[in-house]
Amino acid sequence: MVIFCLIGEEKMKSIERAKSICFAGNNVVESFDASRSGAEHPSAISSFQRMINASKGKQIAVFLDYDGTLSPIVCDPDRAFMSDQMRAAVRDVSKHFPTAIISGRSREKVYSFVKLNEVYYSGSHGMDTMGPTQENKSYDDKYHYKTIDEEGNEFIVFQPAKDFLPAIQKMLSEMRERTEDIPGVVIEDNRFCLSVHYRHVKDEEDYERLEEEVEAMLVSYPEFHMTRGKKVLEIRPSIEWNKGHALEYLLDNLGFNDNSKNILPIYIGDDRTDEDAFKVLRERGEGYPILVSSKPRDTMAFHSLHDPSEVLSFLIRLGRWGFDNHHHIQD
Ligand SMILES: *[C@@H]1O[C@H](CO)[C@@H](O)[C@H](O)[C@H]1NC(C)=O
Ligand SMILES: *[C@@H]1O[C@H](CO)[C@@H](O)[C@H](O)[C@H]1NC(C)=O
Ligand SMILES: [Mg+2]
Repeated sequence: MVIFCLIGEEKMKSIERAKSICFAGNNVVESFDASRSGAEHPSAISSFQRMINASKGKQIAVFLDYDGTLSPIVCDPDRAFMSDQMRAAVRDVSKHFPTAIISGRSREKVYSFVKLNEVYYSGSHGMDTMGPTQENKSYDDKYHYKTIDEEGNEFIVFQPAKDFLPAIQKMLSEMRERTEDIPGVVIEDNRFCLSVHYRHVKDEEDYERLEEEVEAMLVSYPEFHMTRGKKVLEIRPSIEWNKGHALEYLLDNLGFNDNSKNILPIYIGDDRTDEDAFKVLRERGEGYPILVSSKPRDTMAFHSLHDPSEVLSFLIRLGRWGFDNHHHIQD
């Protein structure tokens, strides 16, 4: 089933826009002429057995992006729900392998979609990361704090962009004021970054003004910069911290440091920001970066999956394999 978002209907200004507008349902595609990703990045499903064979003697750890990976891209960012099937598959995987979800959204928002306590969460493009505490490791800097979940388990939260919070809050209200007369703009508070969604901005002129407003505001906030995502402008603190750093931080806190060759990380994501994590795996020379894309793309990933439904198949297989081989999370 494919449902078109009703944006502009006959008023649709450009074919380009029409092509990249969102779909709901099983197929997440970015353009009508999307062709299957080719031989360049072999399917992670057909390579599954080979990947698993290479994991012998190693601890698999699983890292997942959320939007466009576990959930389909939808028109309303507040309704990017994951299916019960997907949730069950992620839960099964997390029973056997340490599993983390790394997203551009706020950590709380991702948790509200996923609702699994077995999984670690990293929000705001890795700038808000919850991970396991490590014995003998000191966390006595102002960017870390300890917390416990409902079951009494202790976690560490790392927020390297904490100093930017007051400025982000100011920008949030300023951005709302600046854009209140631009129809269709949705501003999402991702805690350590802001997302300015323009999926519903119909007029090209409105879009241009929106971009100008963001740039004009940023003049007063030189410690921030703008990046472009899928139908979204993002305002982020200019610190050297991205999803790749969050991945390294989590690997470290899971007890696998740089010299450890006992880890086999699998990272699945569809965004440009996921490339930073793919790059980390390439540079470490371990694990599998997997791109979710319906068409061939320039990527640091080794393998690909077509869409979230293929991600689901992959995770189901991985969970089954973990069960059959009696893999348990090591405490
Ligand atoms: C994986 O390993 C099994 C058992 O060692 C072997 O039979 C199989 O051919 C291997 N598969 C691939 C794709 O390497
Ligand atoms: C932590 O420190 C204690 C006391 O120094 C030591 O006995 C223990 O082995 C250490 N644990 C780890 C995981 O390094
Ligand atoms: Mg994504």
